Amino acid sequence: MSLVQLMLFNPMKTLILCGMLLTTFSHGVFAASDDAKAKVFPNPELTDHTGRKVHFYDDLIKGKIFLVNFIFTSCTDYCPMETARVRRIQDLIGDRLGKDIFFYSISIDPETDTPAVLSAYREKFGARPGWDFFTGNEAEIAAMRRKMGLLVDEFADDAKKSNHSLNMMIGSESAGQWMRRSNLDKAEIVAKLLSENLSEWRESGGLTNDFAKAPTHIDPMPRGEEIYKTRCMDCHSLGGGDRLGPDLGNVTRTRETAWLKAWLKDPAKVIAAKDPVATELLGRFRGLVMPNLGLSDEDVGAVMDFLRRADSDGHSKVAKGGSK
Ligand code: HEC
Repeated sequence: MSLVQLMLFNPMKTLILCGMLLTTFSHGVFAASDDAKAKVFPNPELTDHTGRKVHFYDDLIKGKIFLVNFIFTSCTDYCPMETARVRRIQDLIGDRLGKDIFFYSISIDPETDTPAVLSAYREKFGARPGWDFFTGNEAEIAAMRRKMGLLVDEFADDAKKSNHSLNMMIGSESAGQWMRRSNLDKAEIVAKLLSENLSEWRESGGLTNDFAKAPTHIDPMPRGEEIYKTRCMDCHSLGGGDRLGPDLGNVTRTRETAWLKAWLKDPAKVIAAKDPVATELLGRFRGLVMPNLGLSDEDVGAVMDFLRRADSDGHSKVAKGGSK
């Protein structure tokens, strides 16, 4: 029986059907129930970098569009990269940060990460109001991560070093939509999700891409470019100005090859050797140490080739790393 026939011949059933549909829509088809929210969002007490006490769900999540990630300040490899990515998202979001969109970075090492330590870390990364850092009870924070699906039990013993792959949740509590994201997702994608999709397309100009115009063949990205785009670009640009780290435009001309290689391999080692260039840079960049990105000699060679090519092309052909 078609819907029209149903409406004609069985008005009672039609009424019930419409009622059901209306109820579904008025509650939002995709919106989660309060029950579902309680299942995902715990409500422990946390302390922010200024010492203010809050409850996670009641004060930070309820009614807000949010980005939550887990960090610890003594981590020198992935965390700075992840925090740099959040910083890049902050730049892309603009002045909505602190108005309807909020970022929360929660320490999984509360013993070390006191409010004062978090405050200094926050400053190094240039966080603006609306991006706050939190500490709390270690067991409660681990329980939070587990509840939010951001802690995989098989790595739990090694919770600090592992579990970086899925470490971020973004969502809109009022829209009842949230999703886990990898901290390694491109900043542009996360920023777009926060400012458009999760904002119920408020700022969106609509979909403009046409599948018919999509290229049928895409060349694989050269290794050096891939490394640059996935691990360097949140902190550096090529000719687009300083970010968390210096503008790398022309760096293959201004620095010796041997110095660059040693630096890319292990920045902390160059700093520890009291290298004058490294000391000057460190002072200029608020003491933010460039992370050791675990690059192999081959990776270093590939990145150097990429940077060299960028310098000889005058940064026109290769990506500038987006605008600031
Ligand atoms: C978390 C941010 C961050 C990431 C990620 C990062 N860097 Fe850096 N980088 C810095 C900072 C900060 C400095 C300045 C020195 C310091 O304070 O340690 C720097 C300095 C440099 C320098 C020296 C620049 C000069 O003027 O001599 C080079 C070269 C460099 N980075 C290349 C890279 C490359 C290549 C990658 C990716 C493989 C990368 N960086 C990833 C933050 C970062």
